[in-house]
Amino acid sequence: MTDPTLAADEAARAAANAFQSQSLTADETTLKLLFTEARTHYGWQDRDVGEGTLRSLYEIAKMGPTSMNQQPMRVVFVRSSDAKDRLEPALFEANRPKMRTAPVTAIIAYDLNFWEELPKLFPPNPGAQDIFKNNATAAQVNAFRNGTLQGAYFMLAARAVGLDVGAMSGFDNAKVDDEFFHGTSVKSNFLVNLGYADTSKIFRRLPRMDYDEVCETI
Ligand SMILES: Cc1cc2nc3c(=O)[nH]c(=O)nc-3n(C[C@H](O)[C@H](O)[C@H](O)COP(=O)(O)O)c2cc1C
Repeated sequence: MTDPTLAADEAARAAANAFQSQSLTADETTLKLLFTEARTHYGWQDRDVGEGTLRSLYEIAKMGPTSMNQQPMRVVFVRSSDAKDRLEPALFEANRPKMRTAPVTAIIAYDLNFWEELPKLFPPNPGAQDIFKNNATAAQVNAFRNGTLQGAYFMLAARAVGLDVGAMSGFDNAKVDDEFFHGTSVKSNFLVNLGYADTSKIFRRLPRMDYDEVCETI
């Protein structure tokens, strides 16, 4: 009888080969949507974001890679006025109206105990939990690294489903943790305002570092 795991590996290789041989690249519109024309937004139209759109966003974002398939990101969508009231005191003054006017603000967080899920998420290594179980530093480094990567995938996925995005780290993480994650292993990372932008609130585009300033080939 064929080992189902080996059969799944074979099927994955065939699918990857069929996909890779198409030599696809992103078209110009997609690049504009995700990177080159997309802006960070600070003001929002009075237009709701449906639950289905948030689910579609996550379905895309979850496919981005993480080390050992750890997926430590946890997300709280802050939508109700009551929930916004709880979030507001933690924010720097200038960030409050940006959050209040957004239909939804996502708290991008990470779970320090992400490793508890590894038997499901990384079955190739049955001992994976042991790497983090008694090593708080390794757990913290991996949770923050991969949770931040997932936060970036999250923002690009939001743009992919037609949302505008405004990230914010100008807030007191300890206050947010106390209010939303008290007594848990979850920690806040940054916030992402989501909605349909009021484009009158943006500023000029700021410069990006050039290739030669940042990259070297050795
Ligand atoms: C993780 C993160 C945190 C940020 N924090 C804040 C913030 O607290 N307040 C704010 O007004 N903008 C914040 N920004 C917005 C950045 O300044 C903005 O994305 C950057 O200048 C690029 O702008 P652009 O996308 O319009 O080119 C943050 C962006 C990121 C990605």
